[in-house]
Amino acid sequence: MSGKHLIVTLIGLPGSGKTTVGRQLARRLQVPFLDSDQILEQRLGCSIRAYFEAEGEERFRDMEEQVIEDLSQSALGVLSTGGGVVLRPENRKRLHTRTTVAYLRASPEDLYRRLRHDTQRPLLQVADPLSRLRELFELRDPLYLEAAHFVIETGRPSVVSQVNKIMMQLELDELKASPGSA
Ligand code: S3P
Repeated sequence: MSGKHLIVTLIGLPGSGKTTVGRQLARRLQVPFLDSDQILEQRLGCSIRAYFEAEGEERFRDMEEQVIEDLSQSALGVLSTGGGVVLRPENRKRLHTRTTVAYLRASPEDLYRRLRHDTQRPLLQVADPLSRLRELFELRDPLYLEAAHFVIETGRPSVVSQVNKIMMQLELDELKASPGSA
């Protein structure tokens, strides 16, 4: 793993595989797996969906920003984030400067196929989730690209092949960081 950043952060829309890929990647790298949504739920003392309903999105984003501030300073690990983490410029900057960021990129159609039965994601509890995913993609794709160091096109490949692609990219980064050691 790169000597510069010891945390690898996964970003992307809901359903892009951040948690599944993150867990496997952490296992391969033999480092802790951190899930910002899960840690956030522990701090909130309730589900994200319930918090959204009771307090609204801005309060949720404040809490999320605090969790990102704390976790991005961890010494080591793979960090999986909530899909909206890139909305705040502070989060994009912190993650980019403190960690190595991989964007798991998928089309709204692929995401819809994976998420159509989901009941937990507050932003997708609407009459037409596919249109919502298209809107989210349009708004957020440039933000994910801005925050990322590299992009993994997810399409339909297996989790193992996505983990392999990230491992290759991290090895390349390491070679670039210390060319003499190759
Ligand atoms: C959100 C995505 C969710 C969660 C919250 C808001 C978003 O995480 O943080 O519901 O704005 O896209 P996942 O990307 O893990 O679904």
